[in-house]
Amino acid sequence: MKYAVISDVHGNGPALKAVLEDAGKEGISQFIFAGDYCISGPWPDQCITAIKEIDHKHVIRGNEEKYLENLIDKDQSAWTDGQMQVSYWCYRNVSRENLDYLLSLPHRDDFECNGIKIHMAHSSMDFMGTHPFYTWNSVTVAERSRKADIAPEQILSDMADERRKDAEFQEAIDKLEKGVYIFGHSHIQCSYTDKTKEIYMINPGSCGLPLDGIKNSAPYTVLEIRDDGQVEIEEKRVPFDKDKYIAEVKQSGQYREANVWSKVIIREQESSLEHMYFFLAFVGQYAKEIGDERRPYALDTWEKAYEIWSKEYAK
Ligand SMILES: [Fe+2]
Repeated sequence: MKYAVISDVHGNGPALKAVLEDAGKEGISQFIFAGDYCISGPWPDQCITAIKEIDHKHVIRGNEEKYLENLIDKDQSAWTDGQMQVSYWCYRNVSRENLDYLLSLPHRDDFECNGIKIHMAHSSMDFMGTHPFYTWNSVTVAERSRKADIAPEQILSDMADERRKDAEFQEAIDKLEKGVYIFGHSHIQCSYTDKTKEIYMINPGSCGLPLDGIKNSAPYTVLEIRDDGQVEIEEKRVPFDKDKYIAEVKQSGQYREANVWSKVIIREQESSLEHMYFFLAFVGQYAKEIGDERRPYALDTWEKAYEIWSKEYAK
């Protein structure tokens, strides 16, 4: 049995379409989706519809789904802050039927294929706690790529080596039962195989918002479980025209209504590197300095912080 493992679509309709088409060409008809379907890209409703229409699938919730759940039946006249604009826009642009579908999804799924147990959760923390996949994340990749002129493939390869040599990581592996562990959340495509211990870990990366430094492609991972229980993992990158995508984002309602968020996301799409984490840290500092204690951040604070950050701090 072959599965296409996909995660963190984040409302990027064209990337999801490209990945589904590629899986179709590979003859794959089973799908695994590991959460975060909306927020950041302007096609949230289309992405949910596309996933709903797939016949054979395992689908779980991610952390972004919670942001939409928190907005249900709330007084929209109070939605005047800057920080949450993208969630408000997304909430208003997802049909109630699709929202109900998203919120009906489980946080975990565990199933079996050809005698192999498969475990799904949005974050590796569900399986291994705060260490180790969680700490080799998109911030690590961005910081390393800024410090030295080093190819993203080398950074990812170094991180994989560090994991293999890390005693705490091996300890966490030893506590797991045999099987395949699937998660997303970090937006970094990676996998780990220990054939002796029969442990396999897969993060297919972010289909819609990859932050592993590898440009112009949408990642997903093929998981094959043969009839004899042998497990094979193949990481794939599907060519994806980022420039065209960014031009379309700039024409969207999301770009008009959640302008700052959209601009930070465009920076992430252009570089395939983390920017939002650094911007949020900057806004926190800026709000403190001007004595603005409102949370979510007020529109003025949010926009002014972006203006300063984008000119003086964004790299
Ligand atoms: Fe995500």
